[in-house]
Order: sequence, then C-alpha cells, then structure tokens
Amino acid sequence: MFSKFQKATDKAMVFLQRKALSTLYIPKRKLHMAMNTPTPKVQLLYDLCKSTFTPSGFSSASSQPVHKLCSLLDTFGPADVGLKEESPDDDQGHGFFGLNRVTRWSQPITFLDIYECDSFTICIFCFPTSLVIPLHDHPGMTVFSKVLYGSLHVKAYDWVEPACIKESRQPGYPQVRLARLAVDKVLTAPCSTSVLFPKTGGNLHCFTAITPCAVLDVLAPPYREDIGRRCTYYMDYPYSTFGNGAQISSGKEEEYAWLAETPPDDLYMRQEAYIGPAIQI
Ligand SMILES: [Fe+2]
Repeated sequence: MFSKFQKATDKAMVFLQRKALSTLYIPKRKLHMAMNTPTPKVQLLYDLCKSTFTPSGFSSASSQPVHKLCSLLDTFGPADVGLKEESPDDDQGHGFFGLNRVTRWSQPITFLDIYECDSFTICIFCFPTSLVIPLHDHPGMTVFSKVLYGSLHVKAYDWVEPACIKESRQPGYPQVRLARLAVDKVLTAPCSTSVLFPKTGGNLHCFTAITPCAVLDVLAPPYREDIGRRCTYYMDYPYSTFGNGAQISSGKEEEYAWLAETPPDDLYMRQEAYIGPAIQI
C-alpha cells in the first residue's frame, strides 16, 4: 500500500516538475551554460556583430572590433554552420562520374542566409568547382570573408583616388575608371579571414571556385538599394587597352586595370535554408 502510494506520489512529483520546467523560460545561452555546453560559435558571431555594427557602419572608430571579428571567424569550420565539407571528388555530392558533363557543370552556387538586419548580414556561399561570382563592388561596406573549406581564387581591386575616368569615344562603349589590383591569390582552407573596407583591401572583387568551397561572409552594413548601396558589376580590362592618360609609374602597368560597368550576368544561384546552430536573437 505504502509502495503504491509512494509510486503515485513520485509520479505526481515528476509530473509537477515537468510542468514547472515546461512553463519556465530559459534563454538558450543560459541553458547552454547550465548544461555546461559551449555557446555555438555562430551565436558568438551574432553577439559580436550586434555590439560592433550600426546601420551606418562600425559603432567605434577603433580597429579592435575588426581584430576581434577576424579572430573569431578564423576559428570557424564547416561544422560550425551545419555544413559538411565537399571534396573535389564528390562535387555537390554527385561524384565526378555521377553526372554527365553538362549537368555536372550546371550546379548552382548555393546561398544560405543566416541573419540579416539593418546593420549587418551573415551569410554563406557554397560554390561547385569553376563557378564564378563576377567582379562586383560593396559601396561603403566592410566585408569579412572566411573560407570554410576548399580553394577559392580571389581577384580584387580598389579605385584609384582621385577618380581617373576615361570617356569612350566610340558610341555604345561605356566609360572606364582606373582601379588598382589589391588581391590576386588563391585562398585554401584552413586560412585566415579576409577583410575588405570601403576604400581599401579590394572593395571590388571576383570569386572563382578552384574546388568545391564555401565562404562565410559578414557584410556591414548590408546592401540597400534605396539609399544607394546597390551592387554594381564590372568588366576589367588591362591597363594597356585604353592606353596612356593616367599618371602611373612605368613598369607598374600590371597592377592597374580599367573597369567598366556591365549588366549583371545571370548569376546561377539558388537559396537554401540554413540548418546550422540557431541564433538566439
Ligand atoms: Fe562580394
């Protein structure tokens, strides 16, 4: 009898405890602390971005926030954002011989939006081999890029200031503006985070996937067409194409290019849902 009563009491206690727990709101971060599990890196990234950026840029003029963000991003691998590394042999998981040549090369770039607000965007681009994001700019923006896996060729320019512009003499040809090469290298994971600023570090860049690869990007502030932060695409021409007219040192021609605005190619991109660790906002 006692044992029956005891069992009933125990059951009632368990029920009441569960009921109490179910109505008790515990923020995810505190839950992680209580359970002694580390806070997901993507949460730390969100928290740091939130305290670093405002809708018009950095909340402080110090270079400290850039270093902090780079240090954190440097530690990211694919698993931290719910990705599995693609190897060159199983590009997009189809295998080298798993698809015919046409299908294999027609895999899109996958875009994963992790978080976006007026101050910053956190997102991921997953590239199959050989796909390209053409030369484009980031007006007034700072962009942090961390290659999570694979190899990516980056070519990036900054505008020569003051602006050096050549009007075309032939109708139908656009004007060109002089830019200086800032980056021309292959980034292979694991590697450190790259940063471009509004006027330095290669604000206009082009990405070409050497192998299947993924890039985690933080853009601050995000693109916003209604206030002039729109993405413009460019073609680059060797310095010699448009001859002299710019005061550059002799022998340095290779470091310069003329950029002409071009309509965006049909970028072969598909958006997918982010399935990595959730962010507590
Ligand atoms: Fe970009």
